[in-house]
Amino acid sequence: YSLKSCNTFGMDVKAAVFTRLTAESELPALLRMIHQTGTPLLFLGGGSNVLFTKDFDGMVVGVATKGIEVIDQDEEFVYVRGMAGENWDDFVQYCVRHNFGGLENLSLIPGNVGSSPIQNIGAYGVELKDTFYMLDAVSLRTGEFREFYSDDCAFGYRNSVFKNELKGQYLILSVTFRLRKRPLLNTAYGAIGAELEAMREMPSVKAIAQAVCNIRRSKLPDPEVIGNAGSFFKNPVVSHAHFEKLKSKNPSIPAYPGEHGVKLAAGWLIEQCGWKGYRDGDAGVHERQALVLVNYGKATGIQILDLSKRIIDSVYSGFSVILEPEVNIL
Ligand code: FAD
Ligand code: EPU
Repeated sequence: YSLKSCNTFGMDVKAAVFTRLTAESELPALLRMIHQTGTPLLFLGGGSNVLFTKDFDGMVVGVATKGIEVIDQDEEFVYVRGMAGENWDDFVQYCVRHNFGGLENLSLIPGNVGSSPIQNIGAYGVELKDTFYMLDAVSLRTGEFREFYSDDCAFGYRNSVFKNELKGQYLILSVTFRLRKRPLLNTAYGAIGAELEAMREMPSVKAIAQAVCNIRRSKLPDPEVIGNAGSFFKNPVVSHAHFEKLKSKNPSIPAYPGEHGVKLAAGWLIEQCGWKGYRDGDAGVHERQALVLVNYGKATGIQILDLSKRIIDSVYSGFSVILEPEVNIL
């Protein structure tokens, strides 16, 4: 089964078996099949955070359960649940249309609702964890259902328990967000304010969603046109001492101080090393955003991975900073 149309890098790889989960009623049969075959298993949502470097010798399950529902509300909050296979941006725009506040800054991120907690998706000053309420999941080992609340998920920057201790152990079935009826708008991220001004709009849930969409379209390559999986690396966090050394040599280095050190902009580091717009065959570094590796057509996963290793070496030689991949490499 060809996976080419199931991953935004457009890698032309195959899976031994491919099946879709379209309703929760199909779960018992799916779990039986998983236990009987015992082959490697991979769930895929939008395939926008994976790099396939080879065929997948096992069963790929496309998560395609649909539904968006307001499940509860009080004076201040509304609780909105999305099924795992719902497209993330469709879910966000549903909330934007109803003026439920909290997800507007996360507009236009590719992928599905069910994958969104795995790396605690984030953009434009907001992370999923800021409005996450709970998720429903099923244990692949025991078939038991489990509810995960925020404290169970160990969310961090591009991180959660589902990338660590519980990696590969649960299928996420739905995610519920706690959104504000009287929105608290977040326009702190520089580019949003400027875009709202250019649009001549006052801040509102709708205007911010539109501003974020405009900014993203101007910067990030559309996977329909050029294969990519968004940021290939995480923004690295270094110690304050390391940062001071870097800053003395590079006064204009972008930096975001935090609790655990100073977060640097990997895109800036990569650009400084001369990679922006680089192309070797069909593997390249995007010309407007150096953090995004791209497939111009026929690049293989191995070629993209090799390019990423050359970039890691080069950023290490230039800045003594180790870049880590953000994308799931398979
Ligand atoms: P997939 O790639 O299908 O899967 C990702 C991982 O989750 C895999 O390991 C998969 O096995 C697992 N998985 C999927 N569904 C389930 C499930 N139901 N239960 C258990 N495991 C599951 N990310 C950001 O955080 N911020 C951004 O601004 C951003 N911008 C992007 C821009 C572009 C152009 C692209 C292509 C990607 C961008 N990303 C961004 C990355 C990506 O959109 C997110 O990581 C997204 O959450 C991935 O969703 P997906 O459904 O495509 O996941
Ligand atoms: N920069 C450069 N050169 C580049 C790219 C960026 O100098 O080629 C500089 C910018 O000028 C800016 C800084 O780096 O000073 C940060 O750039 P940007 O605002 O574009 O964001 P980013 O840090 O590169 C992160 C996320 C994105 C998210 C944006 C917006 C990570 C790994 N990436 O990118 O998420 O959309 O912020 O919030 O944290 C993704 O995860 O796939 C993704 C696209």
